Amino acid sequence: MMRLLTGPSQRPPRGGSTQCAHLRGHTPVDIGTPSPLEWMVSLSNRQMSLEGLRDQVEESLENFVQDRLTKSDAPAMSLARDMLLSGGKRYRPIVALLAYQAAGGKDLKSVMDLALASELIHTATLIHDDINDQAKTRRGLPTLHSLHSQSHGIIAGDYLFVLGFGLGGKFDARIVDRMAETSANIAAGELLQIKHIADLGTTPEDYYAIIDGKTAGPFASACSCAAMQADAEGIIIDTLDEFGWEVGRAFQLVDDLLDLTGNPSMGKPRGTDVHEGKMTLPIIHALTMLHGIEREQLADVLQNFSDDRWGELTELLESAGSFEYAKQLIQNHIDRAQESLESLPDSDAKSLMIEIAKLSRGRRT
Ligand code: IPE
Ligand code: IPE
Ligand code: MG
Ligand code: MG
Repeated sequence: MMRLLTGPSQRPPRGGSTQCAHLRGHTPVDIGTPSPLEWMVSLSNRQMSLEGLRDQVEESLENFVQDRLTKSDAPAMSLARDMLLSGGKRYRPIVALLAYQAAGGKDLKSVMDLALASELIHTATLIHDDINDQAKTRRGLPTLHSLHSQSHGIIAGDYLFVLGFGLGGKFDARIVDRMAETSANIAAGELLQIKHIADLGTTPEDYYAIIDGKTAGPFASACSCAAMQADAEGIIIDTLDEFGWEVGRAFQLVDDLLDLTGNPSMGKPRGTDVHEGKMTLPIIHALTMLHGIEREQLADVLQNFSDDRWGELTELLESAGSFEYAKQLIQNHIDRAQESLESLPDSDAKSLMIEIAKLSRGRRT
C-alpha cells in the first residue's frame, strides 16, 4: 500500500507505528489561491476583531520592550527589539487570547503575559533558525545575525527564550511544565530535522514528528496553557489543545508549500528548505510517487540543487501531484481544527478561531 497520510488526527506516537491511510473525505480544493472575494468576505467579517487582538498584542509587546529598555539588560533588548517589533503575524499570541476566551476566561489582561511568552519564544526560535538556515532575510528585513554576527544572533535568541520563560514562569506550575515540555520538544524536532537532512528515505511520519515538535506543539501549548489560565475543565483544555495541534500542522504545511511556490513578497527567501536539504512533505510525497527515470531525476535535482533547476523540480512535483497532495492535507488539518471545536459553546472567540484556521491556508507571508 502507498504510504500516504491524511496527517495524524491525534498527536502521533513518538517513534510509534507507521500509519497507512489514503486521502479521505475531502474533495480537492485549490487552497493556494483564495479568491479575492474569499479574502474580502473573511476580512470584512472578522478583521476588526482579529485586528483588534493583534493590536492588543502589539501594544503589550511594545510596552514590554520599552520596560526592558529601562533595565540593566537594555543592550540585549536594543539588539533584539527590531526583530521583535518587525511585523510578525502574531498567530501564537492571538490564538492564545482566543483560546482563553473560548474556554470561558473573562479577563484578557490575566493571560496577556502568557500570550507574549509564546511570541518571545517563537521569535527566539526564528533568530536561531535563521542562523541554522543561513537566511539573509526575515519579515522583509535583513536577519539579525546577518546585520550583526552569528554570536549576536545566538545571544539575542537565548535572551528572548529567557524573557519568554520569565513571563511564563509566573503562571501555575502545570502551565510552566507544559511550556518547558513544548520548548524541549522544539529542540527534539529541530534535531530530528537535522537527522533527516538530504535523507531521501524520510517518511511522512518522520515529517510529522518534526513539525509537531517545532511548530504544532507551540501552537497547542499556547492554546492549552491559555485554557488552563481560564480555569477550564480538562475536557475543554484537551479540545483547545487539539485545535492547536491541527492549526499548527496546517500552518507548517503552508509554510513548506510557500518555500516551494512563494514569491519574494513573503519576506523570506523561497527555496531555503530545498537548498538546505530539508525533506518537506511535497518532496517526500514526490519521492514516493515517482518511479523510474523521473524518480532518478528528482533524486538528482535534490542532491545537486541549484537555482537554475527550479523549473525541473516544480515540473516533477507537479507531475507527482505533490502540490495538490499537500494542499489536501492542509485542508484536512483545517477541517479537523474546526471539528475539534464543535463541542464548545458558540462564542465570538470560537468563530474567530475557525476564521484564523481558515486564513492560515491562504497566508502569503
Ligand atoms: C514562521 O512562523 C516559522 C514557522 C513555524 C512556519 P510565522 O509564519 O508565524 O512567522 P512570523 O512570526 O509571522 O514572522
Ligand atoms: C521554523 O520552521 C520553525 C521554528 C521552530 C523556527 P521553518 O524553518 O520552516 O521556518 P521559516 O520558513 O524559516 O520561517
Ligand atoms: Mg527556517
Ligand atoms: Mg519555512
